[in-house]
Amino acid sequence: MQQSPVQSIKGTRDFYPELFQTREWLVSKIKKVSEAFGYQPYEGPYLEKLELYAAKSGDELVKEQAFCFEDRGGEFISLRPELTPTLARMVAQKQRQLAFPLRWYQFGPFWRYERPQRGRSREFFQWNIDLLGVNSAAADAEMICICAAFFESVGLTPDTTKIQINHRGLMDGELNRIGIVPEQKKDVFRLIDRRGKMNEAAWCKYAVDLGLATAQIEGIADLLMNSDLWKSSDDLARINEAVKAAGYEAYVEFTPTIIRGLDYYTGTVFEAMDIRGGRALLGGGHYDNLVGDVGGEQLPGVGFAMGDVMISVVLEDYGLLPDYEGLSDTVMVTIFDETTQTASLALASMLRSQGIKASLYPETEKLVKQFKYADRMGMAVALVLGPDEIANNTIAVKDLRSRNQVEVPAAKIIETVNKFLA
Ligand code: HAM
Repeated sequence: MQQSPVQSIKGTRDFYPELFQTREWLVSKIKKVSEAFGYQPYEGPYLEKLELYAAKSGDELVKEQAFCFEDRGGEFISLRPELTPTLARMVAQKQRQLAFPLRWYQFGPFWRYERPQRGRSREFFQWNIDLLGVNSAAADAEMICICAAFFESVGLTPDTTKIQINHRGLMDGELNRIGIVPEQKKDVFRLIDRRGKMNEAAWCKYAVDLGLATAQIEGIADLLMNSDLWKSSDDLARINEAVKAAGYEAYVEFTPTIIRGLDYYTGTVFEAMDIRGGRALLGGGHYDNLVGDVGGEQLPGVGFAMGDVMISVVLEDYGLLPDYEGLSDTVMVTIFDETTQTASLALASMLRSQGIKASLYPETEKLVKQFKYADRMGMAVALVLGPDEIANNTIAVKDLRSRNQVEVPAAKIIETVNKFLA
């Protein structure tokens, strides 16, 4: 009896070629937008000491979500759940040699032990993009513009996609005003972060459980409904102007409930949402102390990360993912029989040397079977080099879509194939 295949790990994905093509397409959009704004690619290790995240990421990430283990030397190691602490560490290590403002981007895998659901998994990819070394509203605004430029490039319009912005400094001042003491701030930020993720009754119960007084809870609830609050923040007003000047204001919404779950943010914070489905696409913000917290000199930064899972779901729902193309840019070189096998091999090599992708059938088989295979792989054209063609110094070119076949002089094959592929 045949055994069933070993199961994959919950919350991981198998990237069969069709899904892999979608990921590659997403990466091409990410690369294009990042580099259009002058950002350089970089990468960090996939493993870090757990203590790196303990510096500032927050309890939820470290205690509940990190995939961590003790290595053979007794050190606690984590598969990276995010990149920003690694970035801060890398910058701190070479702070004297690096040129600032530093603009870097990355796309790679991350791991978090979360409940897998539509749009969330345990192994996922993130696009990270950060600007370090300046403390200006212009830098924060640049991040918002990059988000908007990305959404525009994949066809997501401001009708469905909004970048919701707030400011932790602004909220901090307002919380002081309603009598929230410094020791309560972390809990209250967490409470605010939960506002959009819980129903009202559960949210109020959470507030009571945190030990907040009724007047404080009412004060916070009022604050979260004040859509004009942002106007009293100089930073947010300047960001608004800069985003307007860049032509992206339709994507932006100032939203007092955005506070973010990570502890290291100190200023502007933002998340982008698919507003029809209430689905979060990315998140980021301004952090003043992270480089200092991991051992460098104090240096501000701003950035965001977007996971590949939810954006793919949303793009699919809106019909914005490209069709699967398979090997449409590759030519099938068939093998007529054993006597002509070396001629086909030489033809495939010649095509490759001219920059044409050529797939050689790996055994002698009936031509019909070879054509069928080429068709299933999405190829548009197959070449036949049989004894007659060799004798006439020609090659038969079969259009796999129309099924028409023409014979062309061997000297014209590159030109003919290029026409087919174009
Ligand atoms: P974050 O909000 O924890 O921020 O994650 C950013 C994005 O990563 C989320 O909006 C989501 O798209 C994606 N993501 C997170 N967890 C999962 C998951 N379990 N499954 C699928 N996607 C997920 C950060 O990571 C910050 N380090 C971002 C940052 C960069 N801030 C400044 N620079």
